[in-house]
Amino acid sequence: MDFKTRLEQYRNRINLALADLFEKNSPAILYEPMKYAVNIGGKRVRPILCEIFYRMFHGKERKVLYPALAVELLHNFTLVHDDIMDDDDLRRGNQTVHIKWDLSTGVLSGDGIVSLAYKVLIKEDFAESGSIIRVFTNGLLEVCEGQAYDKEFETRDDVSEDEYIKMIDNKTAALLAVPSAIGALCADAPSDMVGLAEKYGRALGLAFQIQDDLLDIAGDEALFGKTYGSDVAEGKKTYLSILAKKLLSPADLEIFNSVSGNSDAPREEILKVKELYEKYGIIELAEREAEKYIREAEAVIQAIPVCYDTGELKEFTEWMLNRKY
Ligand code: IPE
Ligand code: IPE
Ligand code: MG
Ligand code: MG
Ligand code: MG
Repeated sequence: MDFKTRLEQYRNRINLALADLFEKNSPAILYEPMKYAVNIGGKRVRPILCEIFYRMFHGKERKVLYPALAVELLHNFTLVHDDIMDDDDLRRGNQTVHIKWDLSTGVLSGDGIVSLAYKVLIKEDFAESGSIIRVFTNGLLEVCEGQAYDKEFETRDDVSEDEYIKMIDNKTAALLAVPSAIGALCADAPSDMVGLAEKYGRALGLAFQIQDDLLDIAGDEALFGKTYGSDVAEGKKTYLSILAKKLLSPADLEIFNSVSGNSDAPREEILKVKELYEKYGIIELAEREAEKYIREAEAVIQAIPVCYDTGELKEFTEWMLNRKY
């Protein structure tokens, strides 16, 4: 079976198990949007990563399921609240929760999803349950810190590349490190292997967010399923915008600044920013930077002893390098 088919199998199993978690229907104003947010799609990369590490470290079939689902729920919670914070109306090709319903429904159903995440996380006991809950909780708080930096940076124009990397390490890489480490912990892997899993997730996560920054403006809009050019309209600091500040001529920077952060910017204006990114080779530079972190993740895999079969993790990493949504 090729890797894409296996990936699809993982995803189908995760989707069925996620849908099964919902036992209650009322109050409908809570459970309907929760189910909607969780079940409208998504790549499921975090629970898949959790399963891959669990199997690689010789965990027994399926016991990792609930912690893997818990991480996906945690991620979905962050998306619901992130869409409110970013003022976005499209997610996974569908309306965001706060647009389909309203703001308070978005806030409450997000709270409901994170609560369900904890309920699912502690459903089964593991030898390392204490560490698993700690890693999960620290990850959640770290995402909040990252989201705080992300918001703060919108109104700053002196954000350095280092500050940007720290911000995405917190808001995104944390939630790829968490399932990697939890997969290893559920399998009772030695602590240095848990450390490598975490390190891999961090490197992959940095690549993942730079790719996300790229896809916002240079991706296939329909496939990506999110509001086109949202980062530009919101004045987000992305890897591309940081490079633009560094590389654009004063005249071009003026055009860039007139669009960036203008939430009413029409599509033609957003496309002007895309053209500037193309003109200065920023798209390629960002692609190369994402690839650099993918290679770092691969270097971590190289450090894993040969008694563990890293084949699937390598395939997963290669697939990530080429992701288009
Ligand atoms: C989106 O995550 C948020 C980021 C951290 C960039 P994903 O790209 O994993 O979103 P889904 O779950 O597949 O929709
Ligand atoms: C990703 O930030 C991090 C979180 C969702 C916590 P983005 O704001 O770039 O994610 P998307 O692009 O909306 O999915
Ligand atoms: Mg967003
Ligand atoms: Mg955001
Ligand atoms: Mg984004």
